Parts: sequence; structure tokens; C-alpha cells
Amino acid sequence: MSELLREHYTRLAEKYDDFLYYSPVFVRALTMKIVEKLELQPDDVLLDLACGTGMYSVDILKQVSLKRPVQAVDPFAEMLAAIPAGCGLTPICMDALAYSENHNGYTKAFMKEAVHHVDDKAQLFANIYASLPKGGAFLLVHVPPTIRYPLFDAALERALNWHACPDELQAMLRDAGFTVEHDFLEYPHAIPKVKYFAMVESQYMTLLSSFSPEELAAGLREMEARYMDEEVLEFVDHFDFITARKV
Ligand SMILES: C[S@@+](CC[C@H](N)C(=O)[O-])C[C@H]1O[C@@H](n2cnc3c(N)ncnc32)[C@H](O)[C@@H]1O
Repeated sequence: MSELLREHYTRLAEKYDDFLYYSPVFVRALTMKIVEKLELQPDDVLLDLACGTGMYSVDILKQVSLKRPVQAVDPFAEMLAAIPAGCGLTPICMDALAYSENHNGYTKAFMKEAVHHVDDKAQLFANIYASLPKGGAFLLVHVPPTIRYPLFDAALERALNWHACPDELQAMLRDAGFTVEHDFLEYPHAIPKVKYFAMVESQYMTLLSSFSPEELAAGLREMEARYMDEEVLEFVDHFDFITARKV
């Protein structure tokens, strides 16, 4: 676990939902697709790997009455602390790879916006394949390397090597034994400029935490000049949905 990641998520945990929940409509758009891709049924046991504050599983449970609690795994206690009590999630403070080594019992799993944090993805995918029953599925919801966020140029450029490549993820999942399907969802955001700039200043993405304070300040000046006539920033968020099935 890198120091950058640890510092980023322990610092961001309290503000995570303020910055990244966006709206109930946004979360529901994603969770409806997660439910559909995983073909979730009440008898399933769901693993939310790198669950963060659990907001996606909480919304999934409003749509599917799972009989057993969601296994909500994240290595940072500060993120897990934001999961509301009694909401049907069992928080488990553990790294994704470590969890995948020794745990099974789940029939469906998903990992949203986190696979780029795992170094040994091939081992993670092999462990999940081994743990799932036949008919089980593992879904990656992931922002691709090319992003269309209203960020400064150096950040957009660094994202190209920060996020995982969807083609490479699919190849690795196939190598692990899965049958793989690739789909995507595009969500149009409209965010007040003041709010988005505050998010960037607070380094709301790990990518932004990799810039020094001076680089970040220069980036914000670049954004200020570029969007000086805008009050609201409109941009499209693209999420790859990579469904890996064990047939
Ligand atoms: C961008 S957040 C996504 C959180 C949540 N899935 C969501 O979409 O709101 C990335 C999450 O990955 C977690 N994470 C970072 N490294 C991890 C690792 N090695 N294993 C499991 N989770 C990790 C972070 O703590 C954080 O909660």
C-alpha cells in the first residue's frame, strides 16, 4: 500500500460522500446497471471490494433484498467508518488482494473505481475466479485512462497512465478463466464551478494527490482561466462496465 494512497484516503474519508456522491440520480444510474450486470437475486451473497463508504451497496440494497449482508471490504478504517450502521453491510478492513486470498462464500462481486490501486491484478482475478461458484460473476466499474473532466492539462495527461486500460483488464480476466463482456455508461454532470474547484483543491482523486501544492495551484489557475465565463461545469463521466462470468 503506497503512502500516497494511505494519506489520500485517510484525509478524504470525511469528505468523500460530499464530493463523490454527486446525486441520488447519479448513484442510482450506476447501481441499476450493477444490479443488471450481476443479475443480482435475493439469494446472492455480494462482495463489494474496495467499498469505500459503501454508498453503492447501500443503494443496491434498496433495489434487491439480499438475504445476507454485503461483504464490504476496504483497507481504510476511516472510509469504512462512514458506512451507516444497520444498513445491511458488514464492514471488513482489509486489502482487496489479501481478502481474495482467504475468503469465499460470495456468489457475486464488484469493484468500483479501485482496480487501478491493486498491483497484482492477475492474482486478484485468479483468486476471485477460484472463489466464485459456477454462475458467479465479478464486475469491474472503472473510469478509463482518457477522462473528460474539466481538469488542468497535466492532470488529464497523468490520468493516461493512472487508470487501468479496459482492454488490458479484459485480457487479464480472460486469462484468469472468466467469460468477459464490456459495456459502458456515460453520465452527464453539471456541477457549480465553485464546488468543482473546491473538489480539485481538496485533491478529490488520488491522481490529484500526486501533484505538489505548487503544481496544484498552477493547475487551478489554468482551470480558472479556461472556465472564467462558466458558472456551471458540464462534462461527461464515462464508466466501463466489465462483467466477468464464471460459466
Ligand atoms: C475511488 S474510491 C472508490 C470507493 C467505492 N468503490 C466507490 O465507488 O465509492 C477507491 C477505494 O479503493 C480503496 N482501496 C485502495 N487501495 C485498495 C486496496 N489495495 N484494496 C482494496 N481497496 C483499496 C480505497 O480505500 C477507496 O475506498
